[in-house]
Amino acid sequence: MHLVAATEEQMVQRDALTYSEWGKLLSPEEYATREKRLRAHPWSRSGMRTWLLCAGDGGVLASCETFRTGSFLRTDGGSLVPGDSFAIASVFTEERLRGHGYATRLMDLLATELELQPRTHAAILFSDVGPRIYARSGYQALPAWDWHLSPTPGDPAGPVDSLLREDGLATALGRLRHPDVPFFFWPTPAQLDWHLERGRIYARHLGCSLPASAGATAGASTILWGLVGRSPELTVLMLDARSTSEAWALLEAARREASRSGLSRVVLWEEPSHAPLLPLLKGGGTTRVARDGSLPMVRPLRPGVPVPPLLPAPRGLWV
Ligand SMILES: CC(C)(COP(=O)(O)OP(=O)(O)OC[C@H]1O[C@@H](n2cnc3c(N)ncnc32)[C@H](O)[C@@H]1OP(=O)(O)O)[C@@H](O)C(=O)NCCC(=O)NCCS
Repeated sequence: MHLVAATEEQMVQRDALTYSEWGKLLSPEEYATREKRLRAHPWSRSGMRTWLLCAGDGGVLASCETFRTGSFLRTDGGSLVPGDSFAIASVFTEERLRGHGYATRLMDLLATELELQPRTHAAILFSDVGPRIYARSGYQALPAWDWHLSPTPGDPAGPVDSLLREDGLATALGRLRHPDVPFFFWPTPAQLDWHLERGRIYARHLGCSLPASAGATAGASTILWGLVGRSPELTVLMLDARSTSEAWALLEAARREASRSGLSRVVLWEEPSHAPLLPLLKGGGTTRVARDGSLPMVRPLRPGVPVPPLLPAPRGLWV
């Protein structure tokens, strides 16, 4: 068995097979178009690949995708060393081939391949099938708690200093504090826009409007959000809240934006830095739940890259 990078034609062949798994709400043609459109997005063009595990005769046994993702290693002196990490998505084995260890072999060969890349730091994935299969290949699970907030009527601009627009993602991202941990992943503006591109694709199928804003600021705090997939929800991609009152203002704006856009709720992935702030928001249409799927799991790709217990995995990193 060996690993190969798929050609465009092979990617299209995989799309036809993965439709049954990830094509909900779409016809096979619409799913093929979605995949093509997402692969054409600048973030994908800058570092997305599809990988195939092939048998000796060239037959494809399993596949997955990788997206190059920025990450930083903090030196003992405190400075940040940038590197490349890889977000792994769409691990797939055809039903008739499952249970033979092909996905595990794919993950192991892929790690060996990614370890050879210059500047490599770590791999991250978001498991929909629990931790066990990926733990076998050296991935370590991170906590996965979500906050669900009900929409509330009102002007989203009311509680905050400003609402952000999609064309302001880069500036807004620049306001966010880097996590104070020895290693972390950090998205680019194009990466965050890739999420919004998914929302642009799905808005028509969901019959809802795209949110008019992409986030908000309150004092030194910043939130970035969007419609990002096939659920009619306002998803928080990044949140840097510096006080409870600013966290409240930003999330109240999100709830109002969800209401204005006809979305069913706000979903926020809890990060270690949020933990002390969010319990104070409890009650009044706000609940904390164990996440269903999308369990973040991380594997260092070279010695010296730690996986800190408080490593943040914001929704903006998801693939
Ligand atoms: C998950 C998947 C890639 C596994 O492929 P595979 O080639 O059969 O994987 P392996 O043979 O290496 O490992 C199989 C293990 O995965 C586990 N697994 C498969 N589907 C699972 C699920 N839905 N929930 C929990 N575990 C699951 C099997 O129980 C088995 O575990 P075990 O060996 O400890 O008994 C394949 O089932 C698949 O394509 N599923 C649909 C797409 C999907 O969910 N992909 C994962 C996205 S994170």
